[in-house]
Amino acid sequence: MRVKFKFGCLGLMFLTVIACSDSNSSRIDELLDSMSLEEKVGQMNQYSGFYDATGPSPEEGDAKNKYENVKKGLVGSMLNVRGVEAVRAMQKIAVEESRLGIPMIFGFDVIHGYKTTFPIPLAEAASWDMDAIENAARISAIEAAAAGINWTFAPMVDVSRDARWGRVMEGSGEDPFLGSAIAVARVKGFQGDDLSDEATIAACAKHFAAYGFAESGKDYNTADVGTSTLYNIILPPFKAAVDAGVKTFMNSFNELNGIPATGSQELQRGLLKGEWGFDGFVVSDWGSIGEMRDHGFAANGEDAARIAVNAGSDMDMESHLYVKHLVELVKSGVVRESHIDDAVRRILEVKEELGLFDDPYKYCDAEREELLIGHEDHVEAALDMARKSMVLLKNEGNLLPLAKEGQKIALIGPLAHENNSPLGNWRLAADDSTAVTVLEGLKTYEGNQLEYAEGVRLVNNQIHFPNEVEINTTDKGGMDQAVKAAASADVVLMVLGEYGYQTGEGRSQSDIGLAGLQQELLEKVHAVNPNIVLVLMNGRPLALEWADKNIPAILETWHLGEQSGNAIAEVLYGDYNPSGKLPVSFPRNVGQVPIYYNYKNTGRPGPKGEVFWSHYTDSTNDPLYGFGHGLSYSDFVYEDLKITTDDVENKVTVNVTVHNDSNIDGEEVVQVYIRDRVASVTRPVKELKAFKKVLIKAGTRMDLEFVLEEKELGFFDNNGVFIFENGEFDIMVGGNSQFGIKSSFELN
Ligand code: NOJ
Repeated sequence: MRVKFKFGCLGLMFLTVIACSDSNSSRIDELLDSMSLEEKVGQMNQYSGFYDATGPSPEEGDAKNKYENVKKGLVGSMLNVRGVEAVRAMQKIAVEESRLGIPMIFGFDVIHGYKTTFPIPLAEAASWDMDAIENAARISAIEAAAAGINWTFAPMVDVSRDARWGRVMEGSGEDPFLGSAIAVARVKGFQGDDLSDEATIAACAKHFAAYGFAESGKDYNTADVGTSTLYNIILPPFKAAVDAGVKTFMNSFNELNGIPATGSQELQRGLLKGEWGFDGFVVSDWGSIGEMRDHGFAANGEDAARIAVNAGSDMDMESHLYVKHLVELVKSGVVRESHIDDAVRRILEVKEELGLFDDPYKYCDAEREELLIGHEDHVEAALDMARKSMVLLKNEGNLLPLAKEGQKIALIGPLAHENNSPLGNWRLAADDSTAVTVLEGLKTYEGNQLEYAEGVRLVNNQIHFPNEVEINTTDKGGMDQAVKAAASADVVLMVLGEYGYQTGEGRSQSDIGLAGLQQELLEKVHAVNPNIVLVLMNGRPLALEWADKNIPAILETWHLGEQSGNAIAEVLYGDYNPSGKLPVSFPRNVGQVPIYYNYKNTGRPGPKGEVFWSHYTDSTNDPLYGFGHGLSYSDFVYEDLKITTDDVENKVTVNVTVHNDSNIDGEEVVQVYIRDRVASVTRPVKELKAFKKVLIKAGTRMDLEFVLEEKELGFFDNNGVFIFENGEFDIMVGGNSQFGIKSSFELN
């Protein structure tokens, strides 16, 4: 056994590491020297937008104070101010009316596109296509930067195993290896090679840490996580983001093992800034500094500010507690001024790298805004990403692709002609109700007869957002018409799932079946015509055991963004051969949650004929659709797995041949899983360690090679030390995590 490097040792490391950002910039040194303590603290203060640039400034209340504080140089950043005119107006106040004229950095949640709306992040993850994901982030950055934004609160790199959690839509699913690759792709996409380029923006890895492990999938809930899961599952995508040069981090609302993440010295000052050497800055989540009072970790606002700054939270998003208390806390000796200096230096350095000191208005070019936002190339990229994000879950009897002529098609479902839901949640700058619907997409194919019936109507509830809809739970008025249309059709397309705001922040659910009357509609239609293609639109894995048993074809389309209907029609008609794979397991029922492919074996893995083994008595252990699953219109056959070991380098070379045994070209995601059979800390039954997405021409074979080294074969022990242990490994190569060709090898 050889020790490779340390990842953690939470609780020990931070005592010895006092991380400081190390700037070479004399400009920042000079600036820091000339700043008053109040102005320094001001840089650590972030407000949400309050000022209507085209109207009068508010005269009263908190907004008035905020405005005055910008003038006093007490605001380092704003979020939710967007558009060249508004950003310029705010920046002007900071630059021209404050004493030192330090520009603000403008943040915004650019999560899956700015105006041009891409698929939700979970859907993009299903593409397993790192170039496409990077490109989507790049285009999002181009548009956001053109609208005055220079900082996105993305990527969210929280691994999650819980379909009940509403924010599962915003991440990359359940796997740390895939999640790390996607974290890197997104950071590269947003930040590019040169942050001072006017088309790039600073990225933010969030939410540090363990937010995706909220107990019972309830948003903001407590996370209580053991060291093995923390080091091996939760932290790797954050570390990958640091290694990719991410400029900022956001901490999280949840507590982790009794300590609110926002107040965790171990996580922020110890691990992130200390051991990992992260030199950017950490922003709190919205109000999370103040929320430490509710956690029972801070006695009052002053206490919360003290805890957060000592822990290494550099910027206060909307708690208003830094600006209120930090000056006094430093003056009274409770908080070290060096902590303030370090935080301010980090913030100023990111501003400098963005080029804001050279030109505070560099993101405020109205011509660029006009030219770039919603550019036709961006729309084309959104369509491309949408195509790649769909996952064909089931296709019995090759019901798909549909014949292009001579068919009578019934299109049924509340989401079949809904133009807001496909945009998903977290698309704050998108124009509402602008997605291409499935009906519209299908209409571009004219050879078939198409009849549309919604079956279950949507309800406009508009609780949180304009145009917010829900799926009807009471009105069965549309069902008869839908059943009638289905009865006389050759094929029925049913578009069911979740409305756009059914997932996202604060939208956790205890039931993950088809909402409202949709299941009843599905069964009624099935009774008259079982030749159904179920087109799913949703932001989380759904439990669809009935559908899987009874419906011959199921296509997962997620919330696919503005080009939704066009992309879906292309897949249904075979003009695009589906190539996505699930980044997350789909359970059979909600009782199986959390369910994930890389589980541990237990001492009683079974299966056994009797009762005393690890299982449910009313359900199987396996998921409905496993991680990595996804079909194609091509048939791929895996052959000739060869393993070559190198005991000197502790390296394994994996060779495999994949045969496209069909008459249609197709893309396959070739996945490599290992199992370390015996280890000093138990290892999962399978772990993804490599993958490649490749186009294999009809009827041809492709030879692929993967090399696994210690960094893939090792793991983190319970002290956060990365170790590699010799011994026997199983290996499986295939098109999903459940089935593939297997072998084993030994490294001595
Ligand atoms: C709260 C969310 O948790 C976070 O992800 C987001 O960036 C901020 N709000 C700002 O909108």
